[in-house]
Amino acid sequence: MKITDTVSVQIKDRVALITIENPPVNALNHNVRSGVKKALELVMIDDLVSSIALNCSGKTFCAGADIKEFGAPMQEPVHSQLHDVMDGVDKPLIAVIHGTALGGGLELALCCHYRVAISTAKLGLPEVQLGILPGAGGTQRLPRLVGPKIALDMVVSGTPIGAVEALDYGLIDKLVDSDLLSSAFLFAKEKGLSRDKPIRVRDRSDKLKLVDHGIFRDTRELISRRARGFIAPEYNIRCIEAAVNKSFDEGLSIESDLVMELMRGDQARAQQYFFFAERQASKIEGLDKEIKHRPISSVGVIGGGLMGGGISMSIANVGIPVTIVETSQKALEKGLETIRKNYESTAKKGRITVDIANERCKLIQGSLKLGDLNDCDLIIEAVFEEMSVKKDIFSRLDSIAKPGAILASNTSALDLNEIASATKRPESVIGLHFFSPANIMKLLEVVRGKNTSDDVIATCMSFAKRISKVPVLVGVCPGFVGNRILHYRQVQANQLALEGVPIQQIDRVLYQFGFPMGPFQMGDLAGLDLGWNAEKSNPSDIRDCLCGLGRFGQKSGNGFYDYEGRKPIHSEIVSEVIRDCGRLQGIEPRNSSDSEILERCLLPMINEGAKILGEGIASRASDIDVVYVYGYGWPRYRGGPMHYANCLGLKNVIEKLLHYREITGDEFWTPCQFLVDLAERQGIFT
Ligand code: CAA
Repeated sequence: MKITDTVSVQIKDRVALITIENPPVNALNHNVRSGVKKALELVMIDDLVSSIALNCSGKTFCAGADIKEFGAPMQEPVHSQLHDVMDGVDKPLIAVIHGTALGGGLELALCCHYRVAISTAKLGLPEVQLGILPGAGGTQRLPRLVGPKIALDMVVSGTPIGAVEALDYGLIDKLVDSDLLSSAFLFAKEKGLSRDKPIRVRDRSDKLKLVDHGIFRDTRELISRRARGFIAPEYNIRCIEAAVNKSFDEGLSIESDLVMELMRGDQARAQQYFFFAERQASKIEGLDKEIKHRPISSVGVIGGGLMGGGISMSIANVGIPVTIVETSQKALEKGLETIRKNYESTAKKGRITVDIANERCKLIQGSLKLGDLNDCDLIIEAVFEEMSVKKDIFSRLDSIAKPGAILASNTSALDLNEIASATKRPESVIGLHFFSPANIMKLLEVVRGKNTSDDVIATCMSFAKRISKVPVLVGVCPGFVGNRILHYRQVQANQLALEGVPIQQIDRVLYQFGFPMGPFQMGDLAGLDLGWNAEKSNPSDIRDCLCGLGRFGQKSGNGFYDYEGRKPIHSEIVSEVIRDCGRLQGIEPRNSSDSEILERCLLPMINEGAKILGEGIASRASDIDVVYVYGYGWPRYRGGPMHYANCLGLKNVIEKLLHYREITGDEFWTPCQFLVDLAERQGIFT
């Protein structure tokens, strides 16, 4: 029987099976909530029903509240009204879980008396990642089943757990390997026949008594390092504390107040915006969804250095064999040894088993012959940034690679079209710009050349996801999206330093904004000698002078800072170098406040982002935000540079750019036409 568009009920052998069908992820929108409520109200008073099973159709149980409904008043029945009805059901109520039970979806299951799951299912309360907390009773019911420690870990990290673990923790009652629905049906039938009164999760409290109060202190200490700047983790902790220290109803009321407060805040808005931005990035306008992808089952990587090694690891991690080609036996051995050590250290930390580490190492083979890549489906060149070298490699690849192979360059700034011109198959050439360390960083800029074919783009976008990267399609220009924008922040950071602002102050301001580190620490980490040429050294350029002194950054033990281990220490030598460069450039010393430092570093990024949009190098403002959050550590709770600009208001951004142009007399600050037009037309980036 159909209850609403998305909910139906079937009764068989005294079991009522309520099924939610709201593709793609059975999000609990208004229609679903009201359907489930009506279905329950019907079957709870039906004498022919002894137990009720709650099931979802399609690939998953339920992924939680419908995030698209956030931001507007929620239509009744709201989640808590549905849960009140569930709490009033005195017949055994069983959740049947496959795929993922997340957020409001798991909360729905927690309002059932029992949970039966298939062994591949995942269960979690990921709300913290959306800047909120499980505000439909999740923080009060979960600890009653799994205990406060596990509940705390789950809500603060937002990471789902597998069904096997869930059974161990008491989150589910029965685990099955196959035939979920029939097993759950039998389970429901048995419970219906039993005379035992089913116990609601809210009425259980035995596990709450086991609490060691140190867990709250320890978790706060942990999040101060791992989730610096994020508000939601602390609010999640407070809710679990309430579960332990207060009655169920008091806890529920605290949870409700705290979730409302978070929902009204900027962080939740930014994190929810980002959820959709990330998913949007993989959708390419104009690309036929049915386009045939090229198969990728073996990959060649040219260059076994830091970048080539990291790229190879990302690929081997998902079971794809990789051949690394190097120019000398020594370089090859060094590269393979670094990879082996990396895997060993991951295994030592307990993140993978020793067997898995060995398997992954075996998947990565070395060679000194480019010709050995003749059978690879994808070949990624990751040698140093020199156009002539890259063109030579691509022209050789053209005669070696099999027809249909994709030829990719990991260039971070060079002209991909020129690289492609070295081949007779520019349609098969693409840029795959990984970020260092490539086995860890999630971002992949997929660079579309003027001739790159649609099937190559589609294949690379989905390959990126296969190797757990977040792909963003960008066009060809120096530095593509990420590095091109970053350059403008660096120009101002340098200028501020030359005006006499201590580099520590500049780094601190950007760190406090939420970046993992400021521009000078980042320079030291990346290496100051990247692109440095001793013969062309400019005596008034800070970087050139530091490199001239052998200060190459962390790798040489000093750069903008001296280092004690990894801790940056002020260097008087560097202060003198900067003062001399400032003098040579005729720059007047000038004090800047923290807010001026922030504006001068961030506004040029926004302006350049707007230019990039105007030129079509990025197709959406949100794509730029994805690049920045995943590639450069822009704090997710601020959404990315373009979302941040929207929060400031584009007219304000323009006013401030003009203000700096006026006080510096520098055309650098001129707002680009795209930004001016957009501010006039619609006021925000979309
Ligand atoms: N609300 C609305 N739309 C959602 C959604 C949700 N909760 N979860 C996923 N979607 C949408 C995605 O936007 C995407 O839409 P498009 O195809 O239009 O881009 C589609 O469903 C498929 O999602 P994915 O591309 O992410 O598919 P996947 O298979 O890789 O992952 C998933 C599936 C694991 C469920 C993942 O989508 C996910 O993690 N979703 C969010 C889960 C979540 O955060 N739930 C908590 C919501 S807040 C809440 O529930 C509050 C409360 O306490 C009541």
